[in-house]
Amino acid sequence: MITLNKISKSFGSRILFDDVTITFNAGNRYGLTGPNGSGKTTLLKIIMGFEEPTSGTVTLPDRVGILRQNIEAYRNEKVLDVVIMGNKRLWDALKERDSLYEVEMSDDVGMRLGEIEGIIAEEDGYSADSNAEEFLMGMGFPHEYLKETMHAIPLDMQFRVLLCQALFGAPQALLLDEPTNHLDLESIGWLEKFLCNYKGTLVVISHDRHFLNSITTHIADIDYETIIIYPGNYDSMVTAKTSVRDRAESESKSKEKKIAQLREFVSRFGAGTRASQVQSRVREMNRLQPQELKKSNIQRPYIRFIPNDKAPGKIVLKVENITKTYDDKVVIDHYSMEITRGDKIGIIGNNGRGKTTLLKMLAQALAPDSGMVELGHQVLIGYFPQNHAELVEKSGDRNAFDWLKERRPGIYDQDIRSVMGKMLFGGDDAFKPVSTLSGGETARLILAGILLAEHNVLILDEPNNHLDLEAVSALAWGLEEYKGTAIVASHDRDLIDTMAKKIIAFEADGIHLFDGPLEEYLIRKKVQV
Ligand SMILES: Nc1ncnc2c1ncn2[C@@H]1O[C@H](COP(=O)(O)OP(=O)(O)OP(=O)(O)O)[C@@H](O)[C@H]1O
Ligand SMILES: [Mg+2]
Repeated sequence: MITLNKISKSFGSRILFDDVTITFNAGNRYGLTGPNGSGKTTLLKIIMGFEEPTSGTVTLPDRVGILRQNIEAYRNEKVLDVVIMGNKRLWDALKERDSLYEVEMSDDVGMRLGEIEGIIAEEDGYSADSNAEEFLMGMGFPHEYLKETMHAIPLDMQFRVLLCQALFGAPQALLLDEPTNHLDLESIGWLEKFLCNYKGTLVVISHDRHFLNSITTHIADIDYETIIIYPGNYDSMVTAKTSVRDRAESESKSKEKKIAQLREFVSRFGAGTRASQVQSRVREMNRLQPQELKKSNIQRPYIRFIPNDKAPGKIVLKVENITKTYDDKVVIDHYSMEITRGDKIGIIGNNGRGKTTLLKMLAQALAPDSGMVELGHQVLIGYFPQNHAELVEKSGDRNAFDWLKERRPGIYDQDIRSVMGKMLFGGDDAFKPVSTLSGGETARLILAGILLAEHNVLILDEPNNHLDLEAVSALAWGLEEYKGTAIVASHDRDLIDTMAKKIIAFEADGIHLFDGPLEEYLIRKKVQV
């Protein structure tokens, strides 16, 4: 059980939530929802004690597992170590022991070593490696990756390692921040089953409607500067929330109407002889005073990509016999294709099959080992990398406005402000340091950068990750309307359905180009198998 007691949090004048008292009970699975920037990640950080609330207190069980969005931070760690880090007391002790063996032995060092051995024994440290291994195997983690470093294994497997880390200390509560972002459909299905069997208190942040609907027993929704828990899944939350809001709005309207009538009476007779009647009407007016309804924080960005006026040649990208190998693994094997002006291509397929590698090579961000990628005449690429950190730094105090200004030297300030407004960075938000932006806000910033720059070919690698539902549908619309060429990798079926006229599918048996929309491709594939 996790209890929040009178929790408030604001940044400057921006209130995320005010005076929230709620309980997350064991055995329930809560989806934590709200648009980008509403404060979901901040709330998890407050629960974990990584961030201070403005006021209020939190009580939580001794052992809490957490899965954060920072897979990158573990790049150079060994798989088994990453799992063991889930037991912080044990991990700290193991690290300290290693460092003490490096220094010269003395009485003090000997004493401390004795204490540390005690902690390691208490935390079952001598079987930590085999316990971690057992955990990973239970998660369907391939044996051959056990001794690897994180960056050497596919992303979805890295994710499983982090999930094992979160579960390693047998946590009574489990907090997950957007776990499906890096997962393909198959792995999401696996995670859904896994979570439905978890017996503790589960709180999971997600923008994935389908995922939330399949796993949650309750939704905790952040809006109107508060957090409300609705029983049921995501869709039933939306229905309940809309009807509560409709009722509040219609009550507020009828109050306003009543007040207007009273006010008219008062102004007509206020100076006359009906003093007591006037008084009672004034009292009633005061009683009725409608409470100002807080505005919803749900907003939709406006995404309209306009290609520059110099049209490129007919062939915009020519891929000739390219091969790319990491360590000993061949990811792209003698692959050739052509992309023609105006193509709208959706790239689909499981993790680890080389989608990002191909897109990077198309975007000229990575060179193939052999073969070549040739750009057509006058091609200008707008690129959205899968890993935001490649473009937007996670520390320092450079603000969003300045970051955008660097995208296109010489651009007018008001043009930047105008794009920022469309991408929901209004008012002071334009000057937030980019390092404090939420996941979705960072994605919106990268899209704003593309909107400002000149392009006639868009290459977007899972642009919908982190984005809320409103933003994803705005993006789908923007891509559908785009008059240039677009190549988009995504696991979001609705997005690919809307924008793609062709499909490049990364299947187990290779890369297939299909000249038709996703729906047709999926039907065709079913027929084949
Ligand atoms: N240190 C900070 N200073 C100022 N503003 C901050 C700071 N940290 C976070 N914010 C702002 O607080 C808001 C909430 O951020 P948070 O990361 O909790 O959002 P979120 O709901 O998790 O969004 P997303 O769905 O995009 O992940 C955002 O507008 C963010 O820019
Ligand atoms: Mg977040």
